[in-house]
Amino acid sequence: MKVGATVDRLRREGIAVLDFGAGEPDFGTPKAIGDAGHAAIDSDFTKYTPVGGTADLKRAICARYNADYGVSYAENEVIACAGGKQALFNTALALFGAGDEVITHLPGWPSLWEQVKLAEATPVFVRTSAEEGFALRAQPFIDTMTSRTRGIILNSPCNPTGALISEGELTLLAKEAAKRGIWLVVDLCYEKLIYDTPPHNLPRVLDAHCRDLAVICGSASKAYAMTGWRCGWTLGPAAVVAAENAIQSHATSNVSSITQKAVIAALTGPQAPVEAMLAEYRQRRDRLHAWLTAGGVLRCRKPDGAFYMFVDVRGALDEGTGLASSNDFAQALLEEERVAVTPGEAFDAPGFIRISYATSLDVLEEGSRRLAEFSARHATKSSAGL
Ligand SMILES: Cc1ncc(COP(=O)(O)O)c(C=O)c1O
Repeated sequence: MKVGATVDRLRREGIAVLDFGAGEPDFGTPKAIGDAGHAAIDSDFTKYTPVGGTADLKRAICARYNADYGVSYAENEVIACAGGKQALFNTALALFGAGDEVITHLPGWPSLWEQVKLAEATPVFVRTSAEEGFALRAQPFIDTMTSRTRGIILNSPCNPTGALISEGELTLLAKEAAKRGIWLVVDLCYEKLIYDTPPHNLPRVLDAHCRDLAVICGSASKAYAMTGWRCGWTLGPAAVVAAENAIQSHATSNVSSITQKAVIAALTGPQAPVEAMLAEYRQRRDRLHAWLTAGGVLRCRKPDGAFYMFVDVRGALDEGTGLASSNDFAQALLEEERVAVTPGEAFDAPGFIRISYATSLDVLEEGSRRLAEFSARHATKSSAGL
């Protein structure tokens, strides 16, 4: 918030800022998808629909997961929501309540645990480590389970780290969850943005080991560059979906009818635009990684998915230099170099910054140059004890 306010102030003063804070694709929504939205307006498809989305949309979501993962969901096992965020919130409200513990992971996306709190349950955290590339492993979750554990929420690929849970680790966790009757909620909002194709058929793993306790939350936002259209979904047991439908019916009702038509086009049309965006993100990831790590002060691994580089800036921090934290780092970077990044504190990961590469290569190159200079300057100061 603080970095955002400074960006606003600088821009109002007419100062150009390179912004790596964006949590959304820089691409426009692919044309065929936008055209379907226009057609919905032109044909006056502008009225209420069923709360959980039209039958066509539900079928399109189920067909996509069937084609991508080989899993079968029926119409009463899916609900369309206003973004993955509402899908996750509905899920938290439907499944969790006072006295329940829900385990999730740090560094992580804050809404996941804030939603648990809004459901009056208690979030409990497993911390992943930079040394292991922030990979999600089953054992720490299993070790954290108590008799009060009601659910586990996983985000893979993870915002902000870009790390995944492997099929093998999820299998271990799913088996344990099934044994103990614990809900397993998986946030797959970045599922289409995975590089280097490691096997990541999480829906299939859940289907095989804990289908009755598995809830998948997905989204059109990142995959199809549709963040402003607001459409996500939950796939899960019919009773959970019915509960979410009841909640949504008193909260927001249906996703915009126009959006629904556009998302049907996204899910059922050619997936080439997704491939093209992924290829571009991959190139940016590889170049950005090389630029950032060249100076030796900043450390980061190439993320497996999503579009964030999670960079260890501890080499440039020192109480004595005024840059005592990654918050200070981000603030000074903005003031001195006009580069905006998200400090790790936002994800409960002090010592790191998140750089979104949902922006052009030119901007990334210039931003990396400024970041490298800034870090080298501060690293020199801190090693000199100034
Ligand atoms: C990890 C994660 N999950 C879910 C979402 C929800 O996105 P949306 O509501 O646009 O689908 C986001 C958005 O940034 C996210 O980062």
